Amino acid sequence: ALPAACDFTVFGGTGDLALRKLLPALYLRDRDGHLPDDTRIIGVSRSELDDAEYRDDVRAALAEHVDADRLDPDVLDRLLRRVHHVRLDATAPEDWHRLHGLLKDRDAYDDAVRVFYLAVGPSLFDPICRRLEEIGVTDAGSRVVMEKPVGHDLASARSINDAVGRVFEESQIFRIDHYLGKESVQNLLVTRFANTFLEPLWNSRWVDHVQITVAESLGVGDRGGYYDQSGALRDMVQNHLLQLLCLVAMEPPTYVGRETVRDEKLKVLQALRPLTPADVERDTVRGRYGAGLVDGVPAASYADDLGHADGRAETFVALRAEVQNWRWAGVPFYLRTGKRMDRRTSEIVVVFKEPPHAMFPHSEGGTTANRLHIQVQPDEGMRLHLTAKEPGPGGIRLRPVSLDLSYATAFDQASPDAYERLLMDVIRGNPTLFMRRDEVEAAWSWVEPILTAWAASPARPKSYPAGTSGPIAAAMLLERDGRTWQEPDQ
Ligand code: BG6
Repeated sequence: ALPAACDFTVFGGTGDLALRKLLPALYLRDRDGHLPDDTRIIGVSRSELDDAEYRDDVRAALAEHVDADRLDPDVLDRLLRRVHHVRLDATAPEDWHRLHGLLKDRDAYDDAVRVFYLAVGPSLFDPICRRLEEIGVTDAGSRVVMEKPVGHDLASARSINDAVGRVFEESQIFRIDHYLGKESVQNLLVTRFANTFLEPLWNSRWVDHVQITVAESLGVGDRGGYYDQSGALRDMVQNHLLQLLCLVAMEPPTYVGRETVRDEKLKVLQALRPLTPADVERDTVRGRYGAGLVDGVPAASYADDLGHADGRAETFVALRAEVQNWRWAGVPFYLRTGKRMDRRTSEIVVVFKEPPHAMFPHSEGGTTANRLHIQVQPDEGMRLHLTAKEPGPGGIRLRPVSLDLSYATAFDQASPDAYERLLMDVIRGNPTLFMRRDEVEAAWSWVEPILTAWAASPARPKSYPAGTSGPIAAAMLLERDGRTWQEPDQ
């Protein structure tokens, strides 16, 4: 249920995430009348800004990041009236009285919700949470939000979870993986479990393998400082790609509840076959983009984007995973993600087995295995590849055809941004689409041997030209198994 009042406090209020994603999402929800009437948005940062100056920054950010035809001057004014700025150094106790003063005058409400969005570096999580507890604003109506990746390995994830967990109950902690807020990702569960025709085929008996690709055409941009400490495995695989894998592989829960979906996803993570150093050597590929052409436009190398040649991070990962359970035994899940690839596309491809018997052996054309392409972005939809008879009076000639479903055409409306959905879930207190502590830690446990083996290896990430589909070794990973990556337009 929607509370009557909400204080939405963003630590890192002048940062990129706040201005590019959070405030536009809150504006769009406000525009549709979905925010609690009495909502305040409190940006917290170390900048000396008063409310009016911060409102100017927010106004400029909304002009930049919200489509012009969705910017309504009245809604904009209403939203800006909700916005405040508090200057605060999180580690200086004497700075907290202003925030305290603002927050405590909500005590009149029985059901006021307080959201604390930690859009700051993880080293500040512990001091911020402790201070919030000291000023007495961590009661049951408060929630804390953290971005992925939580930590940079299992130990640091645990220590962050411990620190935040000392102050907040797990039910108050919202760990965002924005992929879970994407319409097409939520639709995965609906496609699988609100229909009957797929589920009987969705197993090792009929599925040959699964491919999950999250390709970006952008480079690291001005996030090089963060990115080089992280790399694609921590930035994308540990969270977004493994979450997609979970949704593809999980068992149906009895109902969609706060814990039921997360319970099933956890079981998948726990069933991932642990990788030995030899497996890492054989089944993972890391790459780094060099200079190249993206969409015909020259693109700089990773080193040039970073500004120096000592970069450590991989900007591309491909790997082969297995889910060791009854449903998926022996079915490889191939994952790949990279920056500066030839296009921006996220897609899940389920490749089915060939028919057990070749009934048309002498026909021209030949059969190809059925494939279901689930396009997560940019054009959300689904494509089922079938084999058909080419029309004609002669013999049987087989031809690949496809059934196409485009959500934009089927629903004639644009999907909301993931943050719109997720921020409303935080305000409503619904954690279903957020990562639970045990999930995050199980994902780190699986990823960690890869991090360790890579760190110990003298090999460097393999270079690939910007604007391509990654290093050759990624193609070899599948060719070795007699398979190939399915490109989106195939
Ligand atoms: C973020 C990563 O989580 O996801 C970025 O930190 C990446 O590096 C982004 O670019 C991709 O998100 P989307 O929604 O554009 O696919």
